[in-house]
Amino acid sequence: MKYPPEPFRIKTVEAIARTTDWERLAVIQDAGYNVFNIPAEKIYIDLLTDSGTSAMSDNQWAGMMKGDESYAGSKNYFHFEAMINKIFGFKHVIPTHQGRVAENLLFSTILKDRKGLVIPNNNHFDTTRANVEYNGGRAEDLVIDIAKDTQAIDDFKGNIDLDKLANLIHNVGAKNIPIGMLTITNNSGGGQPVSMANIRGTAELLHKHEIPFYIDACRFAENAYFIKIREDGYQDKSILEIANEMFSYADGCTMSAKKDALVNMGGFFATNDDELAQQITNRLILIEGFPTYGGLAGRDLEAIAIGLEEVLHEDYLAYRISQVEELGDRLIEAGVPILRPTGGHAVYLDAKNFLPHIPQSQFPGIALTVSLYTHAGIRAVEIGSLMFAHDDPETGETIYPHLELVRLAIPRRVYTNSQMQYVAENIIELYEDRENIGGYEIEYQAQVLRHFTARLKPLQ
Ligand code: F0G
Repeated sequence: MKYPPEPFRIKTVEAIARTTDWERLAVIQDAGYNVFNIPAEKIYIDLLTDSGTSAMSDNQWAGMMKGDESYAGSKNYFHFEAMINKIFGFKHVIPTHQGRVAENLLFSTILKDRKGLVIPNNNHFDTTRANVEYNGGRAEDLVIDIAKDTQAIDDFKGNIDLDKLANLIHNVGAKNIPIGMLTITNNSGGGQPVSMANIRGTAELLHKHEIPFYIDACRFAENAYFIKIREDGYQDKSILEIANEMFSYADGCTMSAKKDALVNMGGFFATNDDELAQQITNRLILIEGFPTYGGLAGRDLEAIAIGLEEVLHEDYLAYRISQVEELGDRLIEAGVPILRPTGGHAVYLDAKNFLPHIPQSQFPGIALTVSLYTHAGIRAVEIGSLMFAHDDPETGETIYPHLELVRLAIPRRVYTNSQMQYVAENIIELYEDRENIGGYEIEYQAQVLRHFTARLKPLQ
């Protein structure tokens, strides 16, 4: 079967409301044409993010009831630790309440009191980049060039360019690169996977220069599944074996459990470095909590441990990846421009080609997210000019991003395939009516991260 069906049945349901066209027009106007300002109850299908939006299983909920809320040494911590040890295999595990705290702890420690340090990655996620830069470092994105072409088909468009990495090491010097990273899958680059050969190659190159290698592991299981189906030699290996091999090359990882641990909140930092683990633990106590809970309840640790077991199931991953792929295929068949091939957790609409009559200065990605909402109650997120355009500090000229994307991130185990069909059909309808979609201008914007709170208005 090309698109395997859901490997679960539904035990609890949450009602979602269909709103009328008039209601949605009023809601979006009140929201200043920014979907971040829409109350979630007014949304029918919410594809804003796949982060923290997973449906937990009956086993995870049962595990929550077994939460041991002792301040120190809760039994759930030991289950969490054992599970992470089984998959990731690092010596030290430090829980945090979400992924960016793991990043903050790591970068505030390794970049402290040193200037001019550089962190290479295939593509830093926004929070990773922000944590590097906030702590005085420079974040370098070194993804392979083909990743920048939305139409190029390649099995592993998330790979880092090893020549660029070698050049960077040569140019800035290994002593100025405290760690190197890979983000798997590559969220900012379209949820594209990284091959095992590339993970191994990155590790070899970094280790040759005595640079530790860390993985941003948010979507590790989805990445492992792509390796299994696309890379020679992995077809007969289990997801656990593939994950074990991926992490065997690394010295540690950061993880947002809100993705591939199938929970609504949580994260961790893991490392083989005793001294770093000690320093980070000391900071953890200051900002998150005792080392056996790190900002989480015992029940949260239990749900993560069980989620990490469930995410390795191949029937789950086959369904998960193909649900996203099926949405992509339906859109491609109808001629809708999307980033190809579809990634692991999201379909990215190419707003520049979807709405070629709207210049970047009039926010085609925003125009598309507003239309998706007003037409069908679907919430997506703009990853384009509202998020990234900025003024050149010297010339004052606006610099626009290369791509104008709209991400449809698919929550895990949440929407049925018929709801996905509804999404596809409505996007196709919008595409057929695209000439009637117009541009936007900004009414209010904050100095930093303006996309979260900006208010806009339609131009005509
Ligand atoms: N790294 C990657 C690759 C991510 O995608 C995210 C979050 C983080 C780190 C930070 O994790 O949210 O738990 O602090 N991505 C979400 C998204 C927000 O919508 O893509 P966090």
